[in-house]
Amino acid sequence: MGNYRMTNDVEWSRLLPECKCRVRTKIAPLLKMLNQPQPDLGVGAGGDPLKNVDLAAEAAIIEVLKMHSVSFTLISEESGVREYGKNASECYVTCDPIDGTTNLVRGLPFYATSIAVSAEPRLDRVHAGLVADLFHDITYFAEKGKGAHRDGHKLIPSCNVSLEEAVIGVDLNSYKVETIAPRLSRLIGRTKHIRHFGANALELCFVADGTTDAFVDVRGKLRTTDMAAAWLILHEAGAVMTGPGGEMLNVRLDPRQRVEFVASANRQIHRKILSLITPGKDTA
Ligand code: IPD
Ligand code: CA
Repeated sequence: MGNYRMTNDVEWSRLLPECKCRVRTKIAPLLKMLNQPQPDLGVGAGGDPLKNVDLAAEAAIIEVLKMHSVSFTLISEESGVREYGKNASECYVTCDPIDGTTNLVRGLPFYATSIAVSAEPRLDRVHAGLVADLFHDITYFAEKGKGAHRDGHKLIPSCNVSLEEAVIGVDLNSYKVETIAPRLSRLIGRTKHIRHFGANALELCFVADGTTDAFVDVRGKLRTTDMAAAWLILHEAGAVMTGPGGEMLNVRLDPRQRVEFVASANRQIHRKILSLITPGKDTA
């Protein structure tokens, strides 16, 4: 096993925040150059055009894990699936180095890094997760069985059960909006305060910390790399996240795997939201 550490020996609550710090340091000089012409870097494993910042953030995460002699399989939106070290099949690190790249590039102060750790490449096996708001330097972190925290403070989701009062995030960002929007029209019609900020990992953490009451993404477009860490943060905070039909989200962690979900602050509002969403062809 060479000099590599066993996954159980890794203190993820220290190592993942260290990854976040390095990501912030590495992207800082690039943020100052965004008004200059950007190189054409092709397309990442998740299917979107690659940007310098995405690659720098991914490299920062890998560097920290290597520095700490962690052997792992990386599942990343940018470079896909890659093995590092001799025991790579014992630890899976699923990341979206920058969630909200469009916001970052356009100067909108809402983008994140998302890193999830699991013993198998499956969502329900994620045991540590970090989502960090890189602009405001706010860190959400959870470990299985140990609760979820924002900068060290325990997360408490909202207990609001009124749809009329609720603030609900809805991602309608899709070329197929004519099939997605009708499925959500009853929900949108009942809710005064609909939002979408453009970095879904962070918007899921908003449900976990009580900022919003729910977040709905039934486009079938979001990658598991974007939501794996937030999935654990939500569950550990005591919030609820299922498929649009109420089913558990037992998906494979893979840059090509897409997922539809409803995340809610509590079970009562979750039931109300699900009852207003019309099933899609696949979920009927
Ligand atoms: C994007 C953001 C956005 C969502 C897109 C995602 P990216 O992540 O989460 O809010 O609407 O579907 O792709 O591409 O910036 O990592
Ligand atoms: Ca991304």
